[in-house]
Amino acid sequence: MSSSCSGLSRVLVAVATALVSASCPCPQAWGPPGVQYGQPGRAMTLCCPGVTAGAPVSWFRDGETRLLQGPDSGLGHELVLAQAESTDEGTYICRTLDGALGGMVTLQLGYPPVRPVVSCRAADYENFSCTWSASQVSGLPTRYLTSYRKKTVPGADGQRMSPSTGPWPCPQDPPGAARCVVRGAEFWSQYRINVTEVNPLGASTRLLDVSLQSILHPDPPQGLRVESVPGYPRRLRASWMYPASWPRQPHFLLKFRLQYRPAQHPAWSTVEPAGLEEVITDAVAGLPHAVRVSARDFLDAGTWSAWSPEAWGTPSTGPLPKEIPAGGQQHAQPEEEPQADSPAPPRPSLLPDPRPLDHRDALEQVAMLASLGIFSFLGLVAGALALGLWLRLRPDEKDGPQKSGFLAPMIPVDKLPGVPNL
Ligand SMILES: *[C@@H]1O[C@H](CO)[C@@H](O)[C@H](O)[C@H]1NC(C)=O
Ligand SMILES: *[C@@H]1O[C@H](CO)[C@@H](O)[C@H](O)[C@H]1NC(C)=O
Repeated sequence: MSSSCSGLSRVLVAVATALVSASCPCPQAWGPPGVQYGQPGRAMTLCCPGVTAGAPVSWFRDGETRLLQGPDSGLGHELVLAQAESTDEGTYICRTLDGALGGMVTLQLGYPPVRPVVSCRAADYENFSCTWSASQVSGLPTRYLTSYRKKTVPGADGQRMSPSTGPWPCPQDPPGAARCVVRGAEFWSQYRINVTEVNPLGASTRLLDVSLQSILHPDPPQGLRVESVPGYPRRLRASWMYPASWPRQPHFLLKFRLQYRPAQHPAWSTVEPAGLEEVITDAVAGLPHAVRVSARDFLDAGTWSAWSPEAWGTPSTGPLPKEIPAGGQQHAQPEEEPQADSPAPPRPSLLPDPRPLDHRDALEQVAMLASLGIFSFLGLVAGALALGLWLRLRPDEKDGPQKSGFLAPMIPVDKLPGVPNL
C-alpha cells in the first residue's frame, strides 16, 4: 500500500516536475543563482529548488548531519525560520525522501533598499550627470535603474503636453558606476531624474528635479601659467585656458576669478579678470606668489568651479642689476621701479582685457604724441608769424642783432628792418 502510494506520488512528482520545470517553484530573485534573501529579525522561508511545490523534503545545513526539518513537517518543500539571524546565513541542503531530488540554497540576509542620495551636476551647458549613493547599506546585491523625463512647463497655450517628455533611460557610463549621463539637455528646461535602488528585497525611488542652469558647475580652468614681466618687479602676468570640458561658444562663455598671494601670506587677494589673462600689479617684489583661478558661467548660472591647481611665479628682478638681499624682504621699493608702474590703473581687473588695454595704451600714446607734435608745430608757426608781424609793424625800433639774425632766414632780406640801418 505504502509502496503503491509512494509510487504514485513519485509519478505525480515526475509529472509535476515536468510541468513546472520551465518555471522554477522557487521565486528566483535576480542576482547569483541559488541565493535567497531575507531580513534579519524577520521570518524567512527557504525554498527547495528542483522539486515540485509541496513535495516533502528534509533540510540540513551544509556539512551537518543534524536534521533541521523533516519531511513530515507539513511544510512541503519550504523551510521556515521563525526569526532569521546572522548565524542562519549560509548554505542549506534539501532532499526528497528517496534522496533523488534536491538542491542547495544559500541564505543571505540584508535590508530592503532605501531611497538613494542623488545629486546632479553639469560641467558644460549641454550635458549633465547624476551620481548617487545608498542612504543605507543593504548588504545585498544592488542595482540602480536610472531614467529621466522632461517636465512640462505649462505654456501660454494651456495644458498642452509635449509628446516627447520621456521617460528616457539615463545611461550609466561606465556600466556599474554610480553615475549616469543625460546628453543634449536643454539649458532652460526642467528635468526629473528617477534613480531607483533595487535589491532582492524591493525597490525604492528617489526623484530629483534639476535644471541645467542651476546645476552648472564648470571644471576649473586649465593651463594656468604665471610669468614675470621683465623690468617690473611688482608685476606678474597670469594666463589660463578654458577647461577642456567647456567648448567655447558665443552664447555660453565663462567668466573667471583669480586669486594670488605671496608665499607665506595666508590671505588671498581676489580679482575678476575679464579675459584669459591678468596682470597683477601689486605683487611683492622678490617673493614667489601662488596664483589660482576658477570659472563660472558668464551670466552667473550655477556655481563657481573649484579652484585650479596653484601655479607659482616670482616677479622679475628686472634688468636693473640691483640685488634684493635674501633675508631682508624689501617691501618699500617703488624707487627701484621704472616709471611705468605708477600710472598703472589701480584696478586692472575692471578693464576689459589686458591685451586690448595695451593696444589702447599704445594708441593713446601715439595719438597724444601726434597731437603734441601738431600742436607744437602750429604753435611754432603762429609764434613765428606773430614775431614776423611784430617786427614788421615796428620797423623803426632797434632790435637786438641776435634776434634779427635769428629770424633772418625767414624774412626777405630787403624787408629786414634792422639791417639797412645797421
Ligand atoms: C555633450 O556631450 C557630447 C557627447 O559626449 C559632446 O560631443 C558635446 O561636445 C558635449 N557638449 C558640450 C557643450 O560640451
Ligand atoms: C522610477 O523608475 C522606476 C524604475 O524604472 C519605475 O518603476 C517608477 O515608476 C519610476 N517612478 C516615477 C515616478 O517615474
